[in-house]
Amino acid sequence: MNKTKQMEQNAKIVNKYLNSKLKGNPKKLYDAAGHLIVNGGKRLRPYMVIRSCQILKGNISNAMPAASAVEMVHNFTLVHDDIMDNDEMRHGVPTVHKKFGMPIAILAGDVLFSKAFQIITDSKLSTNATTQLVSRLAKACVDVCEGQLLDVKMAEERKIPSQAEYITMIGKKTAALFDVSCAMGAICATNKIKDILNLSSFGRNLGIAFQITDDLIGVMGDPKITKKPVGNDLREGKKSLPILMAIKLAKGNNKKIILKAFGNPKISKKDLGKAVEVIKSLGIEENVRNQALKYAERAEKSLGEYSGPAKAELVSLLDFVVKRSV
Ligand code: IPE
Ligand code: IPE
Ligand code: MG
Ligand code: MG
Repeated sequence: MNKTKQMEQNAKIVNKYLNSKLKGNPKKLYDAAGHLIVNGGKRLRPYMVIRSCQILKGNISNAMPAASAVEMVHNFTLVHDDIMDNDEMRHGVPTVHKKFGMPIAILAGDVLFSKAFQIITDSKLSTNATTQLVSRLAKACVDVCEGQLLDVKMAEERKIPSQAEYITMIGKKTAALFDVSCAMGAICATNKIKDILNLSSFGRNLGIAFQITDDLIGVMGDPKITKKPVGNDLREGKKSLPILMAIKLAKGNNKKIILKAFGNPKISKKDLGKAVEVIKSLGIEENVRNQALKYAERAEKSLGEYSGPAKAELVSLLDFVVKRSV
């Protein structure tokens, strides 16, 4: 079975669980909270929770609450991220604040965040394991907030960050949630610290590779496939790795075209498109994908002592993450 099929199969089980939890009154609030979920999404993080539980021979029914909780947290971050990034489309539909307005979008994010912590205690795990899940997920949410602020702050500043600063930022805003997904899956199966650490390291490194690739897609992806716009990171002045590389590499008129769009909210669609075309022509893709690959290799090393089908699926996920165009 190919990766997309495996993920789709997994998504079906998670969706059932999620849909049953995202109901209530006022209906509009729950419609807003479920808006991105019903319209798409890869359910990557729940997939990782479940496979991390399986690689340690755990029972996946124990991992379902954590898997759904992390997807709710993820969607909470998406709703608020689209507000912060002034994005109008995701999953091929208007973003939550565009469709429902700002107050409902903020509340929809808050509901997703709160429900995540409510459902995570649904599992039949020991009190100790459940406490760990809650504590780790809360810590990951704090990391995401810190990382998101770094992202916004870097975009505001003129200073060009180093690659290490970029990695710290994406480590918090994105990899923290992948890290905790795998750690939580492990906790649903075992209390062995070594196993939890190994899976956590796998998730963290995969998460970094994921965001590097996502940033590449953000400047040269095909919106028809990604279902989110291309070029917005450039318009918002985001200091993503491919943008930093492109600015460094471009010369003369090409550099002018990129800098005209960079951090310029008033840029016309046409000029933004031109800047995207210039970036595409610079040949940075291989270099960026190689950076992602470096983290994917580290992730694979974290699983060195395991074997079996769940391991094979996690390893093939790395391949999907670094090669993906969606
Ligand atoms: C998008 O994540 C936000 C980032 C961390 C880059 P996903 O690509 O996993 O989001 P889905 O699949 O649309 O839910
Ligand atoms: C990813 O944000 C991290 C979070 C959502 C917390 P981005 O802003 O880089 O991702 P997209 O491009 O909007 O999906
Ligand atoms: Mg964004
Ligand atoms: Mg963002």
